[in-house]
Amino acid sequence: MPADFSLLRADFPVLHQTLAGGRPLVYLDNAATTHKPRAVIDALSRFYERDNSNVHRGLHALSMRATDSYGAARARVAKFINAADPAEIIFTRGTTEGVNLVAQSWCAANLKPGDVVLLTEMEHHSNLVPWQLAAHRVGATLRFVPIVGDNAELGLDLDALDRLLTPQVKIFAFTHISNTLGVTNNVADLCARARRVGALTLVDAAQSAGHEPLDVRALGCDFLVFSGHKMAGPTGIGVLYGRRALLDTLPPWQGGGGMIANVDWQESTWKPAPERFEAGTPNVADAIGLHAAMDYLDTLGRPAIAAHDGTLASCAAVALAEIPGIRLLGPRPGSPRAGLVSFALKDAHAHDVVTFADQDGIALRGGHHCNQPLMRKLGLPSTVRASFYLYNTEAEIVTLAASLRRIQKFFGGA
Ligand code: ALA
Repeated sequence: MPADFSLLRADFPVLHQTLAGGRPLVYLDNAATTHKPRAVIDALSRFYERDNSNVHRGLHALSMRATDSYGAARARVAKFINAADPAEIIFTRGTTEGVNLVAQSWCAANLKPGDVVLLTEMEHHSNLVPWQLAAHRVGATLRFVPIVGDNAELGLDLDALDRLLTPQVKIFAFTHISNTLGVTNNVADLCARARRVGALTLVDAAQSAGHEPLDVRALGCDFLVFSGHKMAGPTGIGVLYGRRALLDTLPPWQGGGGMIANVDWQESTWKPAPERFEAGTPNVADAIGLHAAMDYLDTLGRPAIAAHDGTLASCAAVALAEIPGIRLLGPRPGSPRAGLVSFALKDAHAHDVVTFADQDGIALRGGHHCNQPLMRKLGLPSTVRASFYLYNTEAEIVTLAASLRRIQKFFGGA
């Protein structure tokens, strides 16, 4: 039976609050971070109350329980994204750390002067700056697939992509869903195009992993990264998926306990993946919390979550398009879109809009959304972003639209 999303709010303790002045909380900042259901909070508490211990090296009861739970979380992630083997799952602090790991480890072993790292113009800074650091270190070049289209319907220029995909391209790293535009890229198609020139692919799934089904084998990507906190899981835990054959050829990126096979005074040897890339005490508790989050999402069903979030965002785009002086980014109102709407009001700076909306109890995000070069290309200093998740409702869109109309009026709009 399909989940009744209107009942889910009861699962999220943080939503049961009123803000100063008795305003109900309308939380529309889910692309930045999502709230956690009771099941995730309980899993974290249970671990600290019953099983808290370090993993791998202990032979006592608590350590063995913690080790088993940590391994089970890894296996759960593999199932969540249909990876062939739990050894393909590396726990990280989040999406940013996953990209940095690949940019440092893979690039150190493979990137040479003159090679090209291909990105797109819609990448979050976390899928741009790590590649700048890596490319500059070896004298490689960064190139960018441009976005095309008018203000309202921006997408990747696929003809330009095919021109840019030369044999010099060693890796193509791109976002699945733009955190600023709400545009969804066709991952399987982009990976297939990259494969034709022998380039590897890294997919930034930060904005998609908690919203829709992901199957790394069907997508055909080499690496995929995401964060727990954007999918109802804890902060400080994320995932790097890498194809097993690839991971075992890569050097470690950090040294320490847990990742070595043997250590001598001058030299050491490494364990295979995933331990090779998890130096030091791992974030056991949050991996267990992430496990609970994945169970929660799959009980609802990710196709149903995607439909819910996409429907809300489409309704919001249609409602907001009627506000005088608004400029909406991303898919045209009425077209399918991922669960967020990004916009600018003609007469009000994004930070003012967010501050005024907060007075109505609405949590939005305003700024460059870690997309400074994209903002410059769009000729905007910033946008306001409303982003939706499984506990949001159509009534909240009505509240948002009313608040934005008031703000637009206040700042001198029609
Ligand atoms: N990456 C997060 C966002 O887009 C912080 O808001």
